Amino acid sequence: MILVLIGYMGCGKSLIGNDLAAKVSYDYVDLDDYIENQEHKSIKDIFKNNGEIYFRKKETLYLNEVLNTLENAILSLGGGTPCFAGNLEIIKEHPKTKVVYLKTSLDELTKRLFNERNKRPLLAHLKTEFELKDFIRKHLFERSFYYNQADLNVSTDEKNVEQISEEIISSLL
Ligand code: S3P
Repeated sequence: MILVLIGYMGCGKSLIGNDLAAKVSYDYVDLDDYIENQEHKSIKDIFKNNGEIYFRKKETLYLNEVLNTLENAILSLGGGTPCFAGNLEIIKEHPKTKVVYLKTSLDELTKRLFNERNKRPLLAHLKTEFELKDFIRKHLFERSFYYNQADLNVSTDEKNVEQISEEIISSLL
């Protein structure tokens, strides 16, 4: 099985993905890290030098590549991956995938992302916490259409990594 973690930036995909992989002895792949390794560049530099459209093309290319090579694995996607280029259909049509949406509240995402926004190309231009929250609210609204098509929705607020992993394992593995 390939367990695919989706959700907005800052929802904990990497942290929970690593924890899950260790608990069930699956491989762990983070699509952002995979892209950075293949392109020999950080995501931030890809956005800066080549633009978002180039990034989205590479994201689809490498998503297909990892789905075709992984066996038993946890795969964390970028926040935007399921929302572009038919990527969600590709994932859902794959015979071995299960998709989990890590759902985090707007307040919690704003709190987590405010100090890290400079590392995130889509958020770096937002100056105040108010602007960031407004941006996330609208962005999340657009993206929820895709996120809500997951096989399992797991709310992450007020839960630790351990609790979230156990909830996913007992529901899907
Ligand atoms: C993006 C999320 C990022 C990364 C890129 C674009 C998005 O991944 O793929 O900056 O569109 O939401 P994380 O969700 O892992 O931060």
